[in-house]
Amino acid sequence: MRRVRRPARSLALATSLLAGTLAPSAGATHLAPGALAEAAHRVGFHVGAAIDHDLDAARREIAAREFTSATLENSLKWGPLSPAPGVYDFSRADAVIDWAEPSGLRVRGHTLFWDRLNGTPGWLADEVAAAPDPAAHLRQRMETHAQTVVGRYAGRLSQWDVVNEPLAALRGDLDPLNLFVQTLGESYLDIAFRAAHAADPDAELFLNETLVELLPAKFEGLIALVERMLARGVPIHGVGLQGHFLLAPPDPFALRSQLERIAALGLRVELTEVDIPISLFASAPDPLAAQAQAYGDLFEACVSVRACTGITTWGVDDGHTWLDSFFLTQQNAPNRPLLFDASGQPKPAYDAAVAALALRIIDVDVDVAPGDPGYRINPSSRGVVAVAILGADGFDVFDIVPATLGFGPAGAPLAHAHGPHYEDVNEDGRTDLLAHYRTQQTGLSAGDPDACVSGRTVDGLAFAGCDRGSVVERSTASP
Ligand code: XIL
Repeated sequence: MRRVRRPARSLALATSLLAGTLAPSAGATHLAPGALAEAAHRVGFHVGAAIDHDLDAARREIAAREFTSATLENSLKWGPLSPAPGVYDFSRADAVIDWAEPSGLRVRGHTLFWDRLNGTPGWLADEVAAAPDPAAHLRQRMETHAQTVVGRYAGRLSQWDVVNEPLAALRGDLDPLNLFVQTLGESYLDIAFRAAHAADPDAELFLNETLVELLPAKFEGLIALVERMLARGVPIHGVGLQGHFLLAPPDPFALRSQLERIAALGLRVELTEVDIPISLFASAPDPLAAQAQAYGDLFEACVSVRACTGITTWGVDDGHTWLDSFFLTQQNAPNRPLLFDASGQPKPAYDAAVAALALRIIDVDVDVAPGDPGYRINPSSRGVVAVAILGADGFDVFDIVPATLGFGPAGAPLAHAHGPHYEDVNEDGRTDLLAHYRTQQTGLSAGDPDACVSGRTVDGLAFAGCDRGSVVERSTASP
């Protein structure tokens, strides 16, 4: 596993690098209506919004124009669906799905089995407690529920959050307060996914989890759980990271490596319920611009991992967000966490999302050695370049003079999107540099052997090196 270290000295360095960041401009967008959906279509990506059955027409119009995917915010949860044992009311779910399909939206089913908030009907726990064999009873109920609900919409919903939040709120073990865990242990996941798969073999089945972006130990628990499921042959196709960034904005490096870890399991991954509240940026000179930067980071991280296929925001606009009534966040209302403001106008975050979707993402691994002078580069284009600088033996590139770091034939200074991130990239116990730079002039294309960087360490040691790894391009967008 990669070790991540952020020593004190690097913070100052990161801060100075961030000063050179290309901040998205504040103010009204100059983009044409529908630009977000169009940018997503162009690169085969999904941008979605949570839609409730009673969402008004103006918001639905925005959703249909700007998004390519819709997630049912509440209407498919077991609680709202089933007021009494065995009784189902599909009218609200039908209303959302019957609207989304002709609007050309992909539909995500959310969620079959969730034991928090309104996820599970109150009668279920009572019934299970009273049953002579609680485990057999709950299993039977789960299988019937999956058959009834997934089966009803088979062929219409492309993805299902089959299980939501199986882990303890702040830890990586199964949630001891969860009825399914208490009654069936880990086997409830197998029962859930197998039943959902039997009911709709074409649906992509996701495990959806919360707060893992902010809690590395919880993320490890999630990965271990999914690995065990895969080892048991459970039909799981994707992992959803909810992306409620309530405590801190996304760390693009940490997030990207999480997305890559999930991709390495052979699964797809989506950010399924994103909110980035404006209160996180209260002390920034321009909070909307800072929020836009955070959204840009989020989109870049996902777009730069091939297996990351979509980002859904948990609502359409700031005038209608669950955070304004959720007990942990209502005191910050208006939370303003979304891409559109309360009057339905696109925010700077919208522009940042569109811009990130249009970037060419190029990964370059560069091995540098002290004193190596050679670097060359190609004609110009725009893009994001993720550079892993691997220190050679006896040489550590850990501390770099940022002003000297260059990319290209003349060592043109890099515009730093995020600043450096220190990782033991080559897992030799030494600290190397993994950085993510935004550059205006690289001209790199897939398979290009000429990707090079040069710079100087704080000790004055010059270094330069050229790509020895692969150059990977995800998007098909023109630069
Ligand atoms: C929320 C809805 O947005 C609210 O309207 C409802 O009152 C409670 O549930 N994680 C999830 C979502 O997986 O289903 C939750 O949705 C938000 C947290």
